Amino acid sequence: MATIETANDKMVCYCYGLRESDIQQTVQLHGCQELQAVMSCSGAGTGCTACHRRIQAVMNKQATETYGAAPLK
Ligand code: FES
Repeated sequence: MATIETANDKMVCYCYGLRESDIQQTVQLHGCQELQAVMSCSGAGTGCTACHRRIQAVMNKQATETYGAAPLK
């Protein structure tokens, strides 16, 4: 999943070179609501696992922007 890099498009998963926009696109295209789903659909977070909090933060931000609130955990 390649995207055009912008200054605001922060790197999320360094192992797989996936940026914030890649995670957002995965959530949108596949309807992923949980970290495990994003991992399965994009590969993000399946390496060293250090990015799990960053992935979750992107998902929460996207949910807040879309629905007005992040999902309860
Ligand atoms: S930084 Fe995402 S799996 Fe390593």
